[in-house]
Amino acid sequence: MRKPLIAGNWKMFLTVEEAQALAKSLCDSDIDYSKCDVLLAPSFTNIYAVHNVVKAAGKPIKVAAQNVYTEDSGAFTGEVSLPMVKSAGADSVILGHSERRNVFGETDEFINAKVHKVLKAGMSVILCVGELLEERESGNANSVVVSQLTKGLANVASLSDIVIAYEPVWAIGTGKTASPADAQAMHKVIRTSIEKLYGKAAASEVRILYGGSVKPDNVTSLMAEDDIDGALVGGASLKAVDFLKIINY
Ligand code: PGA
Repeated sequence: MRKPLIAGNWKMFLTVEEAQALAKSLCDSDIDYSKCDVLLAPSFTNIYAVHNVVKAAGKPIKVAAQNVYTEDSGAFTGEVSLPMVKSAGADSVILGHSERRNVFGETDEFINAKVHKVLKAGMSVILCVGELLEERESGNANSVVVSQLTKGLANVASLSDIVIAYEPVWAIGTGKTASPADAQAMHKVIRTSIEKLYGKAAASEVRILYGGSVKPDNVTSLMAEDDIDGALVGGASLKAVDFLKIINY
């Protein structure tokens, strides 16, 4: 049985004070953590503050970084390393988000190097994959997603510390969600590819999240699909009431 995971991607939003307040209101709320894992991905500057709020409240909420660089230290002005996010309290890292791929030009090879970096440090990865609108319209969605998946996981021996997030780019921040049936179809494609690469047991264990305009009013129908094991939530994770409704779907 795959335990659902609801992850909040706070992107480049919230000051330290705002992030602390949001984390605190989530910690103060009624969440049945036996039914669902919860993860927050604040900006780099807020990881430590959010980690401390969660720790003080004694809640099993995980904290993730939204990205990381491939080197541990050095003359890389403006970059943030894995030892830094780890010591700030992150236990996992989101990699390959479409905004990293499309706004900052990250390649599958670069993302794969980061995947290895994070796994080697004993932390977990949420690896994002997803097609652009034109790729879907030209009938290439499946091949794009399978290629991102395969290249992102190149030479990764085990998926035990990996979560996959399918995020169709045309559904991110647009209010357009993939229909539950379309999302399920792609999740099935992903799980089948994983089965080919890692075998049946790994494929049945790996969690595949859906992301792209997940809201309180569509989460239930998405989560009802067989291969959707959770959600990576952007906009709706920035308001405690909405995010709580999604967590408690
Ligand atoms: P959204 O973002 O929920 O605002 O569409 C999802 C994401 O980019 O992870």
